[in-house]
Amino acid sequence: KDNKTWSGRFNEPVSELVQRYTASVGFDHKLAEYDIQGSLAHARMLAATGNISAADLAAIEKGMAQIRDEIEKGVFDWQLEREDVHLNIEQRLTALVGDAGKKLHTARSRNDQVATDIRLYLRAAIDDIIGLIRALQHALLDLAEQHADTIMPGFTHLQVAQPIAFGHHLLAYQEMLQRDTQRLQDCRKRVNQLPLGAAALAGTSYPIDRASVARELGFDGICRNSLDAVSDRDFAIEFCACAALLMTHLSRLSEELILWMSPAFGFIQLADRFCTGSSIMPQKKNPDVPELVRGKTGRINGHLVALLTLMKSQPLAYNKDNQEDKEPLFDTVDTLRDTLRIYADMLTGLHVNQAAMRQAALRGYATATDLADYLVKKGVPFRDAHEIVAQAVRFAENKRCDLSDLSLAELHQFSNVIETDVFQVLTLEGSLQSRDHPGGTAPRQVRLAISQAREALGSR
Ligand code: ARG
Repeated sequence: KDNKTWSGRFNEPVSELVQRYTASVGFDHKLAEYDIQGSLAHARMLAATGNISAADLAAIEKGMAQIRDEIEKGVFDWQLEREDVHLNIEQRLTALVGDAGKKLHTARSRNDQVATDIRLYLRAAIDDIIGLIRALQHALLDLAEQHADTIMPGFTHLQVAQPIAFGHHLLAYQEMLQRDTQRLQDCRKRVNQLPLGAAALAGTSYPIDRASVARELGFDGICRNSLDAVSDRDFAIEFCACAALLMTHLSRLSEELILWMSPAFGFIQLADRFCTGSSIMPQKKNPDVPELVRGKTGRINGHLVALLTLMKSQPLAYNKDNQEDKEPLFDTVDTLRDTLRIYADMLTGLHVNQAAMRQAALRGYATATDLADYLVKKGVPFRDAHEIVAQAVRFAENKRCDLSDLSLAELHQFSNVIETDVFQVLTLEGSLQSRDHPGGTAPRQVRLAISQAREALGSR
């Protein structure tokens, strides 16, 4: 016997392959808790508006409590023949409480039901992810504070540019993560609108109260147009775009961790628990975790493109295409959660080789700009100063020494305005300290930025 809810008008059952092809219960069972919350709010509204009786509502509530329990205990019998999470739960409800279960779908369609479920799911996911970003930011700020005075070479074109504080470098990521949070907070506003009441696409002829359902489910408001409510998934796409940016930021940091851990840099070591060895080369310790963060950024970007492509040719209103929105969305959420958790832990266990960072800063004539600025302050036009320092760098390079190793007599070959006070300017510390304005790398500013960031972030 074909027990499909909608099989009444069909002459033949669907084949086993079609059944498997069209079913979504294998993945959308993840929405079960939100499906139940939505159904309960809908049922309460139906009772309050006189569409079902108080006794029906009581039966629905009782049945749903048991279903929730069965799902939690892992004994709920998910059936492929029942297609998706919605019909599985509804049919189980009817099996448990009889006719009241059959009344639940009054004034509702799976189209507004599934849109509601996804929005509830995504809202919770966003709140969770924002919390995880905050935890990561705290780990980042702790590390930055330990290294407000640790000097490393700053790079442009991956060539040594100017000395910076390692803490300052880390704070750049703090800013990116802060914007990621803001983007998610903004996205949440558009996620948090109630589709229920749109029914299949046109609304419903029953007297309903959408505002009360919205209130009960914690939505900020209702979707204003019934076709839009059931058909668009832009809120999910927007979330995936936020996720892609967040992962891109973490991927960049991962790339740096990988580089810095290479013996060619030797700036950091990751704790062993984030690395693996090689099955052939005994000496290897590979930075697998950051490599996978970088790699998983590819799939997150892919999910964004998948959803955009899913949406681009759909005529209004609902189309079954939309069933394909779930796996990319779920995987995006799961990947972000795992990545953020692992990252906070990884930063806490980071070992920094300050001597190697310092050596690298000394090797690359990182204070050449400081020398040019020194000459400018002594009255030399900047372009001339630039040329003078270029000559001095060439000289030092031939001598295989740093600018600060040149004697005053040697420096005088290039400019006679240079005096002994130049040696303070040529030190790494002097270079950092001189960049003492908001946003600059002076350790004083780094500490200030950390305390401001902590304040903005609130307590852990
Ligand atoms: N499983 C479906 C989905 O994910 C639920 C909505 C089905 N609606 C329909 N008219 N077939 O989109």
